[in-house]
Amino acid sequence: VRHAAGTTPLLVEAGALDRLATMIERYAPGHRPTVIIDETVAGLWPGILPVVPRLTVPSGEHHKSRERWARLTDALLEAGADRGTVIVAIGGGVTTDLAGFVAATFLRGVPWIAVPTTTLGMCDAAIGGKTGVDTPRGKNLVGAFHQPRAVVADPRVLTTLPDRIFREGLAEAVKHAAIADVDLFSWMESARDAILAREEAALDRLLRRSMAIKAAVVSADEHEGGQRAILNAGHTIGHAVEHASGYRLAHGEAVAIGLVAEARLGERLDLTAAGTADRLATLLNGLGLPTLLPEGLDRVSFEAALALDKKNRAGTIRAALLAGIGQTAGSETDGWTATLPLELVRQLN
Ligand SMILES: NC(=O)c1ccc[n+]([C@@H]2O[C@H](COP(=O)([O-])OP(=O)(O)OC[C@H]3O[C@@H](n4cnc5c(N)ncnc54)[C@H](O)[C@@H]3O)[C@@H](O)[C@H]2O)c1
Ligand SMILES: [Zn+2]
Repeated sequence: VRHAAGTTPLLVEAGALDRLATMIERYAPGHRPTVIIDETVAGLWPGILPVVPRLTVPSGEHHKSRERWARLTDALLEAGADRGTVIVAIGGGVTTDLAGFVAATFLRGVPWIAVPTTTLGMCDAAIGGKTGVDTPRGKNLVGAFHQPRAVVADPRVLTTLPDRIFREGLAEAVKHAAIADVDLFSWMESARDAILAREEAALDRLLRRSMAIKAAVVSADEHEGGQRAILNAGHTIGHAVEHASGYRLAHGEAVAIGLVAEARLGERLDLTAAGTADRLATLLNGLGLPTLLPEGLDRVSFEAALALDKKNRAGTIRAALLAGIGQTAGSETDGWTATLPLELVRQLN
């Protein structure tokens, strides 16, 4: 059975981490679980699914590597894992991307269950079936599409996340609301304090909607031909700023800056409703995220990164712009993106 993004169960449930064994039985019946878990998460939450084998991954993006993939694969072989194994990936996007890729390739593919433990992992990384590793030449250059049997998000696990990491993931949730759900956006404006206080009910609602939006977009375009491009809102400028900051900005912080900057450009181009950029900036600032290009940004490196964006066509920079809050400006014929004139980009601050 091929599992598709649109049909992958997304479970948002406070306390779900205490009930993982039952969930595995339900979504991978008869399979024996092997846990691949982020080392920090394993330390903070020692009670999570205490099964053997249990493989830990040291925290940090540089462990999302082919070397780590090989070590995990060897450890699985050594532990006697076989086709009856289900891999349970517990951690942020680094762990779910890496463990998902191990699952995609082990014996040509065994089932896996994604248990994201970061805001970004829940709202974004664990959904859509993209798995993979980085190489010295760039991020995510080797990978496979392999849908998990289920995605299990427990809002309680987010209580141990450092503030900066918690907030950066919210940028992707704001992006999902901005491309597809004005009601979610308005609710986030009113529920800002509850979200920041990580109140269970607020997180539950936020995660549920945000995850559903990503799953819906991805299932309409599972292998990235077209519509999935709208998930890149804020990311054309965002990636370039992230790169030009020498990665001092976290990904979500750069996306927050990118969302506002691209909305400003969209307004200048008459593609985006007036006031959209300000509304985005107010919400993102309220969530503790930056919304202006960093002072002293290396403009040469910024423009060089923009020139390399994967959405570019025939030497022009392209971005997935908003028509307004809750709506994108693109269409099928333009690949869901619009051209950003470099002279306008140069006027950004
Ligand atoms: N597959 C996709 O579609 C997709 C989409 C977006 C991002 N990604 C990938 O996701 C990765 C980034 O994910 P991330 O931001 O979750 O980073 P991450 O996995 O590195 O986690 C961030 C940090 O938080 C720690 N942590 C995780 N959960 C915790 C918890 N509950 N309490 C305390 N600390 C915790 C981790 O140890 C780590 O230090 C990148 O590699 C990116 O390429 C993938
Ligand atoms: Zn992103």
